[in-house]
Amino acid sequence: MVLPKESGLDHSVNLLKEGYCFIPNRMRASNTSVIQTRLLGQKVICIRGQEAAELFYNQDLFKRQGAAPRRILKSLFGKGGVQGLDEQAHKHRKALFMDLMTCDSLKKIKQIAEKQWEIAIKRWEAIEEVELFHELEKLMCITACQWTGVPIRAINLHTRTSDLSAMIDAFGAAGPRHWRGRIARKRAEKWITYIVEEVRHSNIIIDSNTPLYKITWHRDLSGELLDVHTAAVEVLNLLRPITAIGRFITFSTLALYEFPEAKQEIMSGDNRDQNKEMFVQEVRRYYPFAPFTGARVNRDFTWNHVLFKKNTLVLLDIYGTNHDSTLWENPYTFNPKRFLKWEGNPFNFIPQGGGEYDLGHRCAGEWITIELMKSSLHFLTERMSYEIPEQDLRYSLKRMPAIPANRLIINHVRRCS
Ligand code: HEM
Repeated sequence: MVLPKESGLDHSVNLLKEGYCFIPNRMRASNTSVIQTRLLGQKVICIRGQEAAELFYNQDLFKRQGAAPRRILKSLFGKGGVQGLDEQAHKHRKALFMDLMTCDSLKKIKQIAEKQWEIAIKRWEAIEEVELFHELEKLMCITACQWTGVPIRAINLHTRTSDLSAMIDAFGAAGPRHWRGRIARKRAEKWITYIVEEVRHSNIIIDSNTPLYKITWHRDLSGELLDVHTAAVEVLNLLRPITAIGRFITFSTLALYEFPEAKQEIMSGDNRDQNKEMFVQEVRRYYPFAPFTGARVNRDFTWNHVLFKKNTLVLLDIYGTNHDSTLWENPYTFNPKRFLKWEGNPFNFIPQGGGEYDLGHRCAGEWITIELMKSSLHFLTERMSYEIPEQDLRYSLKRMPAIPANRLIINHVRRCS
């Protein structure tokens, strides 16, 4: 196979303009699932599909060091975090995260979130209009702080949530949105660095079971404590993505509105829990969130007659794989029931990355995401009533990360007992 190569010096501007469709557009035009383009001044190979994901998560062939561009480190990820580690250093750090994901710990975060839902619904009842997306981010931010053990004062909740939100929103942005993300990261790192230091000096006493405690006292492979900055980056690697679940829950709410038959299904029948799970999975597949993930070629190899040269940046198309018509029947139809037949393959459904949790870079928080989305669905369908007034509910695939234009406004919120 000849690798289709996009001519021209650089296509970063097109990536910003085309968003989630940048890779799919080029693959459609050349009728392949491997293409070459140029982004941020370098050659980039983009791949899509199940086999591509299997390749991408082969750690002998790919590494993460040097894969994330500076602008992403300065806004979304931070420097020194688990995302950029390889081999033993990655395995050791990833174990820190995966050890936090016990059944008890998942139960705990679910209970915290449910309490916050109760409090939020009471507040929303007294408000004329609720901007749901921002409210959900706040709800998730406070849940994240309580679960991790990070102390937060009510008066700071707004700023902390906005900063975590701005880091997420900076992805795929240039100009002011990107700079808001950088400023937000600086402020958030300063906040958490101070907290880690206070814990280390015993000025803040926290439960030894909390993620904050475990990260603060985590030792790297050489037996040293993480430097405070790296510890802060890893604490933010929990606070930020838990806050990001608010975005998925916003899309769940939109799906309940856009697809009333699917809503009916989760509210009726004997197996409501399974129906909710399938709905949540379909939200994670259907709606756009993480567009792609990147790694660098570790050593020269050939795949499907294409030469992957050492150090080349490779992007795995997440959105495209979740909408690949060879994997998903009618991929642009919202159909939770498709998950009745899904066999749990770690490479064909990859909204939060693929492959293995412990050894690879698959998202450490996928179970938390699913659990919190499921319990939120319960509140949205059985514990509250609300209306969705006339507004622009469209979301653009050109904006990464996507979000409905009006951030989903709801009104007439009432609690159901
Ligand atoms: C990694 C998406 C929620 C913690 C990732 C990756 C993606 C992703 C695409 C990279 C996979 C790769 O590069 O191979 C998402 C989305 C979420 C979410 C869309 C929805 C809100 C969470 C939550 C947590 C979390 C709730 C923590 C509680 C992490 C960590 C990594 C990661 C620590 C790095 C894993 C590694 O490099 O080994 N996530 N995630 N994420 N995620 Fe998530």
